[in-house]
Amino acid sequence: MKAIILAGGLGTRLYPMTTVISKQLLPIYDKPMIYYPLSIPLLMGLRDILLISTPQALPLYQQLLGDGSRLGVNIQYAPQEKPQGLAQSLLIGEPFIGGGQTCLILGDNIFYGHSLTSVLQSARDGLDGAVIFGYPVKNPQAYGVVEFDSENRVLSLEEKPENPKSNCAVPGLYFYDGAAAEIAKHVRPSPRGELEITAVNQEYLRQGRLKATLFGRGIAWLDTGTPEGMLKASEYVEAVQSRQGFYISCIEEIAWRRGFISTEQLCRLGEAAKSTDYGKYILSLIGG
Ligand code: DAU
Repeated sequence: MKAIILAGGLGTRLYPMTTVISKQLLPIYDKPMIYYPLSIPLLMGLRDILLISTPQALPLYQQLLGDGSRLGVNIQYAPQEKPQGLAQSLLIGEPFIGGGQTCLILGDNIFYGHSLTSVLQSARDGLDGAVIFGYPVKNPQAYGVVEFDSENRVLSLEEKPENPKSNCAVPGLYFYDGAAAEIAKHVRPSPRGELEITAVNQEYLRQGRLKATLFGRGIAWLDTGTPEGMLKASEYVEAVQSRQGFYISCIEEIAWRRGFISTEQLCRLGEAAKSTDYGKYILSLIGG
């Protein structure tokens, strides 16, 4: 399985913060927002990653993350000329994916919590078609919404419904088999003019090949769509890190724990940032 991180868009809901900076480069507490979704493929052991963003922002992501070798992974980049919808990422990513399985993550989605890695692994293990996730929220109207039957099978899926059939939002994390790009090619623009990822998922549902996994109470899915959401997410990260002493989405730590980089390499990454708490944390992992 390969991973696509979609980090484009205009960020209009965050103007003036995003007038000249890509939203997913803005900080959530002590690190760029993109670190959080990037931690997902790393946790899952996926080492081939395609980052898609606007042509203007791509050089900045390249400066930040390079070719990924620093983390022992392979990061490639592709532009999305215009933000024409999330499903477009599957078309842009088609040559990269090469007909295999994909994990698609939105660059502004933050996940954290108990057994996250094992929940993701088991969803991936049984992949036959597509897997989406469900997360109970108070305002499902703002999201894709999934409805389940009593045996947790998906009954319906709707994008931002006025009258949601459940309180289960669909976070921006999707697993697909090799058919996703082909399905995306047949999606027509929605009334808001976008190739909706929900339309791709609805087609998998129509084919009887869509599964949904519910995230339990132990997993946090944080919203970064508004200044308030960003502040709350930052406060959450700060609270967990300072209380527990474990960092959320320290990509260097994850790469090291996954065996992508050696202790020596980790030490060098920590040294380069040792004037910050972040660098000190990295060094503390190896007792440096
Ligand atoms: O966050 C989860 C939700 O994401 C899902 O529940 C919805 O089903 C899904 O449609 C999406 O809804 P949003 O309205 O939040 O999507 P938005 O247009 O805000 O785009 C999400 C991120 O993807 C955002 O950071 C910008 C980026 N993006 C968006 C579009 C449309 C792109 O990079 N390219 C695009 O073409």
